[in-house]
Amino acid sequence: MRPLASLFTSFLPALLFGQAMQPLAIPPLLEQDTMHLTVAAHTHQFYPGMNTPTYGVNGDYLGPTLVLHKGDTARIVVENQLDEITTMHWHGMHVPGEMDGGPHSIIQPGESWMAEYPVKNPAGTYWYHPHPHMLTAKQANLGIAGFIIVRDSTEAQLDLPRTYGVDDIPLAIQDKKIISTGELVTYPLGDSLWVNGTPNAYVELPAQVVRLRLLNGAIARIFRLGFEDDRNFDVIGEGGGLLPAPAVTNRLTLSNGERAEVLLNLTGMAGDSLLLMSYGNELTQAMPGSSNLILEGSLLNGIAFPVLRIRVVAPTADPVTSIPAALVNNVPPDESTSVRTRTKTITGTGMVAMGQFLINGEMFDMDVVNDTMVLGTNEVWHFVNNSNLAHPMHLHGVSFFVLERNGEPPPLWERGPKDVVLVDAGEDVKFIVHFGELAGADYPFMYHCHNLMHEDHMMMLQFMVVDPNAGVADHDRSSVLLAPSPTMGMVRFAAQFAVEHITVRDVLGRTVINRTGPFAKEGSIDLSAAPAGVLTVELGGQGKRDVARVVKE
Ligand code: C2O
Ligand code: CU
Ligand code: CU
Repeated sequence: MRPLASLFTSFLPALLFGQAMQPLAIPPLLEQDTMHLTVAAHTHQFYPGMNTPTYGVNGDYLGPTLVLHKGDTARIVVENQLDEITTMHWHGMHVPGEMDGGPHSIIQPGESWMAEYPVKNPAGTYWYHPHPHMLTAKQANLGIAGFIIVRDSTEAQLDLPRTYGVDDIPLAIQDKKIISTGELVTYPLGDSLWVNGTPNAYVELPAQVVRLRLLNGAIARIFRLGFEDDRNFDVIGEGGGLLPAPAVTNRLTLSNGERAEVLLNLTGMAGDSLLLMSYGNELTQAMPGSSNLILEGSLLNGIAFPVLRIRVVAPTADPVTSIPAALVNNVPPDESTSVRTRTKTITGTGMVAMGQFLINGEMFDMDVVNDTMVLGTNEVWHFVNNSNLAHPMHLHGVSFFVLERNGEPPPLWERGPKDVVLVDAGEDVKFIVHFGELAGADYPFMYHCHNLMHEDHMMMLQFMVVDPNAGVADHDRSSVLLAPSPTMGMVRFAAQFAVEHITVRDVLGRTVINRTGPFAKEGSIDLSAAPAGVLTVELGGQGKRDVARVVKE
């Protein structure tokens, strides 16, 4: 059943059908040693004559595509010119917790934040977006988001299209709810479909093999992508890098935050045109965008609708004309390497925007770390969905490999490294994940539903990744010395500043000792009230602050 158009008289259904096509916007490239991103409020005309207030990164809407090279150091300065807080998260990138740009890395209005990290991810398509607690949906919906393309020497050797904007095209797919005054509403399901901020978009592509970098940048809608003639295409990569070999399919389900790289062979098609479609009619009833969710209706629900019209033009001078048979050696670690199995059960009943969904009965608390992993280990996880909706589940700071869906191997195109996995109602999704980046109690990693309404409604938990030898290793990096480690109770400290506050946190990030001085530059702390295990000791004073870890026996 389709919602009645009369329910939407205050919206603009006409924006969807019968409007003039517009050329697809291609975000500019940014490729520098130090990159500057300025986040600010703007106004943009997506529809002629209608002014829409937006947020943008270095422009009116969305942001530049950052090009990073594996092995280099990324240095990105983010300036917040909004009149509210923000953060900037490098979704999918393997960076330490302090550089991840999660909800703890707040950038106040008028201030800047610099992220600096070695680029460790394999070549692939990643993205950036804000992550301030309870503001993520609003800020991303208004336009703060952009692509990150990582290049590496392995990918460079493959005969793949990589001329940006010519045969290598980023496509950020979003549905939008826009009201007659021109404002964008933070609403889970919109009536208009935009690609890179272009409504009714078309793109001219050469008659050869082209590469599409697909991103589901929508708040909640799940896209099931295919072409109008049901032709096959080759999936060459997922969010975390390339697949071992191209996987042929005629449909690709892309949930919120997921990326996929696709090769489309347009050889011999000059003069033709082809529609990229989303088949909302093929989504399961638990997926946002299916016909089921009538109370959060949208004209796009439950139907097949066009995403992008491709007009095929003459080939370029040096076209890629065939699909490589093999790609890269991105394969899952053996299951026997897992040191631990964790099961995360999702419960709750609700609609796309409403309802409280829980992960193992818990919801987000900025001050609670819910899980602790050991640096350098692999674990097997299960997301078991006992709720009534499908949820795209995301982990920060890692890539993982799906091993099974309800006991069955996933489709071939879903076997590459990824960082978001769609878990349908009733499904048990099993994956293996490697924890290769540190995250402490101050800047833990998130794991959450990437339906941005759910994320903002606390369907998000936090984890630390700790170094088992931290008590030793941290002494080398920190300006604070703690000894002895391990200790039975008393620990001596030495700081380079007069200490005014001492805070001790346990492995779950809970504050177990909190003392206010003044103390001297050196002294001792009685840890007998703290639990055994890795303790994080934070010393502050004279405007400085540093942490070190100690193991209590
Ligand atoms: Cu793309 Cu925690 O986010
Ligand atoms: Cu992320
Ligand atoms: Cu969800």
